[in-house]
Amino acid sequence: MSTVHQGSTELQWGRDYLMVEPNHFRVDYAINPFMDLNDQPEPLHTRGEWLAVVAAIEAAGGRVQVLPQLPDAPDMVYAMNLGLALESANVAGDPDGGRRVVLSHMRFPQRRTETPAADDWFAANGFTSRAIGRDGVGAHFEAGDAFAWRGELIVGYGPRSEELALKHLATDLGVSVRGFRITHPGMYHMDLGFCPLDGTRAMVCPAAYDEASAEALLALVPEPLVLTEEEALTFCANSIVLGRTVVMPACPDRVRAQLEEWGFEIVIVEVGEFLKGGGAIRCLTNPLDVRLGRDLVSVPGGRVTLA
Ligand code: ARG
Repeated sequence: MSTVHQGSTELQWGRDYLMVEPNHFRVDYAINPFMDLNDQPEPLHTRGEWLAVVAAIEAAGGRVQVLPQLPDAPDMVYAMNLGLALESANVAGDPDGGRRVVLSHMRFPQRRTETPAADDWFAANGFTSRAIGRDGVGAHFEAGDAFAWRGELIVGYGPRSEELALKHLATDLGVSVRGFRITHPGMYHMDLGFCPLDGTRAMVCPAAYDEASAEALLALVPEPLVLTEEEALTFCANSIVLGRTVVMPACPDRVRAQLEEWGFEIVIVEVGEFLKGGGAIRCLTNPLDVRLGRDLVSVPGGRVTLA
C-alpha cells in the first residue's frame, strides 16, 4: 500500500491514453438525457475539439494511441467505455504477461458493436481480454464507471453497470471493489459525479448517488471538492489528471479557486460537440497505465463493499 495512501501525492496513472478518432460521430439514438437527434455534431468542429484534447494531453507530458472509429458505432468516440485496461507491477509472475483488459458489456445494444473492435485493438497491443458478460448475456459493465483510487477500484452502478458486475471485477482481478449506487439520470456514469485528483483529493457530486452511497463516498475521500448538481452538470468532473494538470471541459469559478489553491494547473478544452452525445474529456480518453500492485492493491479472492 506504500505510496497510494500518502498525502497529496500525484496519481501514478493517467499519462497513457487510448482515444478513438471521430470519423463517424453522430447522434443516432438517445441513451442518455443529453442526446437529441435534432442536434447533430458538426464534423469539422468535432475534429478540431478532438485534436485539441490530444494536444492538451501531449502538452501535459502524456501520450495518445489512436483507434479508428467503426462506421456503425457512432458512440465509439467515447473510448473510456471500451474496457478497463490494467497492467501488472509483477510482469514476470503474471500469467497474463502483464497487461489485461476487462471489456465493457454495454447496457444498450446500440453500443455493443464497439466491443469486437476494442477486443482486437487490445489483443494487438498485448492485452489479455476478459469479459464479464457479452451480447446482452451476463452482467453489464461500462468502464466509465470504474476508477482505481487509493488502492481500490471505485465503481458506480445503476444506470449502466450492474451491481453483479462488481463481484466479477473483484474476483477476476483480485482487488477490493467499492460500489456506489448512481441515481441521477444525468450522471449515468461514475465519471460524471466523481473525479480523483491525487492521493487524497477528488471531486464528488453527492447528488449523483443515493443517500447511503453519497455519504460513503464523502467518507472515503479525505479532502473532497464537493460539487453541486449544477456544477457537475457542466461536466467539470469529466476531466482527466496528468500529475498536477487537470484537463477539463469546463470549470465553474468556485471549483477553479479550490483546484488552484491545491496547486493544480487547469487546462480547459471545450468539447461542445461531444457534449451532444453526453460525454466530455474523460469519456473520450481511456487510461492504459493503471497498474495492479501499485494503483490497485492485490486482495486474493477479491472483496466488494457496498454502501
Ligand atoms: N453517448 C454515450 C453513452 O451514452 C456517452 C458516453 C459517455 N462516456 C462516459 N465515460 N461517461 O454511452
